[in-house]
Amino acid sequence: MHTYINKLIFGIGLVCFSFTLAVGQNTKVIEIKTKSTSLVYAVDQSSRLIFQHYGKTVDSPENFKQHKAYAKPDTDRDFSYEAYPTFGLGNINEPALAAIHSDGSLNTELAFVSAETNDTQPGITETVITLKDRVYDFTVELYTKAFWNEDVISQWTVVENNEEATVKLNNFASSFLPLKAESYYLTHFYGAWAGEMSVAEEKLENGIKVIECKKGVRTTQTENASFLLSLNHPSLENSGDCYGGALAWSGNYRLAFQVDEWRTLNVISGINPFLSAWSLKAGERLATPEMIYTFSSTGRGQVSRNLHDWGRKYAMVGGTKIHDIVLNSWEGAYFSFDENTLTGMMDDAAEMGIETFVLDDGWFGNKYPRNNDDAGLGDWQTNTKKLPRGLDYLIDYAHSKGLKFGLWIEPEMVNPESELAGNHPEWIVQSADRDKITWRNQLLLDLSNPKVQDFVYNVFDSLLTSHPGIEYVKWDANRHVEQAGSTFLPASEQTHFWISYTHGLYSVYERIREKYPDFVIQDCASGGGRLDYGALKYHNEYWTSDNTDPLSRIFIQYGTTLIYPPVGAASHVSTSPNHQTLRMTPLKFRFDVAMTGRLGMELQPKHIQGDERVFAEEAITNYKQFVRPLVTNGDLFRLKSPYDEGGWASQMYVAKDQTSAVLYAFSLEPHLRGIYPTIKLNGLDAKKKYQIVEINKNGKTRFRGDGQTFSADYLMNVGIELKIADQFDSAVFLLNVVH
Ligand code: GLA
Repeated sequence: MHTYINKLIFGIGLVCFSFTLAVGQNTKVIEIKTKSTSLVYAVDQSSRLIFQHYGKTVDSPENFKQHKAYAKPDTDRDFSYEAYPTFGLGNINEPALAAIHSDGSLNTELAFVSAETNDTQPGITETVITLKDRVYDFTVELYTKAFWNEDVISQWTVVENNEEATVKLNNFASSFLPLKAESYYLTHFYGAWAGEMSVAEEKLENGIKVIECKKGVRTTQTENASFLLSLNHPSLENSGDCYGGALAWSGNYRLAFQVDEWRTLNVISGINPFLSAWSLKAGERLATPEMIYTFSSTGRGQVSRNLHDWGRKYAMVGGTKIHDIVLNSWEGAYFSFDENTLTGMMDDAAEMGIETFVLDDGWFGNKYPRNNDDAGLGDWQTNTKKLPRGLDYLIDYAHSKGLKFGLWIEPEMVNPESELAGNHPEWIVQSADRDKITWRNQLLLDLSNPKVQDFVYNVFDSLLTSHPGIEYVKWDANRHVEQAGSTFLPASEQTHFWISYTHGLYSVYERIREKYPDFVIQDCASGGGRLDYGALKYHNEYWTSDNTDPLSRIFIQYGTTLIYPPVGAASHVSTSPNHQTLRMTPLKFRFDVAMTGRLGMELQPKHIQGDERVFAEEAITNYKQFVRPLVTNGDLFRLKSPYDEGGWASQMYVAKDQTSAVLYAFSLEPHLRGIYPTIKLNGLDAKKKYQIVEINKNGKTRFRGDGQTFSADYLMNVGIELKIADQFDSAVFLLNVVH
């Protein structure tokens, strides 16, 4: 891996000016670059590492020697924005690091020691800047990985204690980013079960705005550890300076946005310090999770595309590969099934062109059968009453139909009514003699305990070893932590619980991926409750939401794909009226929406008959033949936001070589007669012509120019009017370059 090592020691390799430095000048400049961005730090005359710039590439780093950006020299002591502000150095803003040293001192003051950059693999450099306290043997290493082509950087820190005794870390952020503008607009995500990734944008005023999670496990069910920041105006699709940020961490997180007294925005991101003080013993190191950043001077559309490119390539499993079309049994059968129900579903799935059948909850537990969510969780043996011929019979049946077979598990959890809870009460997260609080009748296993890690790993490994025909796992997690406490951790380290849980989870994921590197795993936590780049690294896709209503999904998937790659967004056609919202929608609308992500179905397929069956089969064929490669590796261009006035939503995926594209348009409200949307396309090759052909027509043509050829500049600057007006009308078009 490390054959491209190209070491550059800053201070040796970089220019050193020969003239005497004036006050305010820097002695060294450290520049980290991607294709069109640069991140610049400088070392000042007091050996402090000062933040200088993150944004559009600056090609002459020597400027940063002559002029110290981000300095406030009018204060008593030169207050500059240090790269990693600690409490105790004169920093009066929110600190990135606050430590109680071994002698009880509360102050830390870091000085620059060294900087080194390695090319770790083609297209990626890793820079480590080492800082050391001026008094104590206490070191912080600031890491930055730069992904050249994707214009993404990731940052994290490693704190090392070489003092005589334990240092207590109270705050230990992954990254600090100060920004300067007239105003700042923060786009962030909020929601609830069945309504994840709703989008809010607000202007930041003086004070601190915090996006955080304090409840563990399902950390993204309400807010999400990601955001967009637009400078000087609300974010726009195709213009303006815009940053995207996401923390790769599946535990409690805290993203703090402080507009300080000088109207500088200080962004501090990392693990949530809430009840999480970490005792770092002498000689120990602690690594913080990666904070991902990207920047675009042409709006949030490019921010998303950078994150998608980076995510597909580096932050998920098989992100650039074609994903199977799935039939998941949950909404079609829930807990009520026997062999015939499932084989019947497989018959229909195979006939319709589906590629993988997934058996959801309800297949396990014998002493305490899992016939509802009251019992059986934790007892991962096939229920012999429901499935007398075992899983292998179902797996073989699936294979005989040309389908792959997938299975649901929720290995981090246990029902009190289960053999596991009786056998290992000490594995359950608990607090002394207090009553345990259940949620969906279940309790959480303590993944800070290595024995529990082994158990969870073995749930996965034993299933796959005894049933090698399983080719897909849906990994669920349906509660969070209302009451923390570990029988494994000593009393003095109970505050380690939150972080150790996540470390335990990651070590299980690591072991799984070592043995099963390409195996397909879906990331699910009651829907999108664990959607972050920390978890995604080990998964091939994510269950976006338990809400399968297509109108709700337009909003949920709009928010989700601002940050996360659409190829991973499991998006299923379910029945009408919808089980979560009771809304009635046409099958075409449901398919058209589901085809913007990883298409699947979540219903009893035998209920789709007659014309609907013909339409469904045609839509699945269209998806496979034309749409899926574009969803997988194409560039997403958002054309109309469902949040904007008008009651429309529209987007397209354009092939990287711009030879083909798919365009979607949706009518979200009833519109009066003759009120149609005009859609201006984007991302096409301006010099080329494209033929537009409507698919999934269902007997109707929604564009007067269907089948015609248009120049890209016409499509992008004049736009096309689509005849969709009724609520839940929709249209999908393929575009192909005509030579
Ligand atoms: C969670 C998941 C659903 C389904 C059920 C099964 O809610 O998000 O998709 O798997 O659990 O209990």
